[in-house]
Amino acid sequence: MKKTLEEHAARFSDLATEYDDNSSEEYLACCDLVVEHAAPGPDDVVLDLGTGTGAIALALSARAGRVVGRDISEGMLDQAREKARERGIENVEFGYGEFRDPRFEGDVDVVTSNFALHHLSDEEKREAVEVIAGLGPRRLVLGDVMFFDEADPDDPFYSPEVDDPATVGTLADIFTDSGFALTAVERVHDQVGVLVGERAGERADE
Ligand SMILES: C[S@@+](CC[C@H](N)C(=O)[O-])C[C@H]1O[C@@H](n2cnc3c(N)ncnc32)[C@H](O)[C@@H]1O
Repeated sequence: MKKTLEEHAARFSDLATEYDDNSSEEYLACCDLVVEHAAPGPDDVVLDLGTGTGAIALALSARAGRVVGRDISEGMLDQAREKARERGIENVEFGYGEFRDPRFEGDVDVVTSNFALHHLSDEEKREAVEVIAGLGPRRLVLGDVMFFDEADPDDPFYSPEVDDPATVGTLADIFTDSGFALTAVERVHDQVGVLVGERAGERADE
């Protein structure tokens, strides 16, 4: 049965202190691609959803004006705050927020999310991307478990009992239906990729 938000939050809080110790090559490649494609300007506000221990938010802090990380796991958020404090990073803030209710107000330029949206059902993913679009960012960068081929639980990254990844086609439909033109698709693994959406008429090359 699908896990509740509270169950996901508790599971990640239990894992939080060790989360950064076991990073796969594919996860690290995905992080690099998300950071590269996010490409914020020095005055940009970035919102990182499902921020976890802050891998993406902290990496983007040097390039952006302000970075806001949101997650449902207080244990993961505590780790993120501690890392920001240790590194002396002051333009990042972390707090509770869910994909469909990120508890964010104000202008946002770039929204990122890495290895987190797959915890939602496809219908919930659609609602989440609609909420993100409503915030008005010019760019959405999603790194995640997603199927380029047939789903295979024996392959890494996909555990059906906790995860619910979509196909790349479903995600592409969700992006475009919410007003994001798909401008890049990066395949890291058969079950891991990065999608970049830009708001129609607001692409950097226009
Ligand atoms: C695998 S971790 C990824 C963390 C981080 N983005 C990274 O790249 O390392 C997934 C994160 O998604 C969060 N999460 C799961 N469901 C969520 C939801 N509905 N809304 C916000 N965050 C969620 C979890 O608490 C966890 O911190």
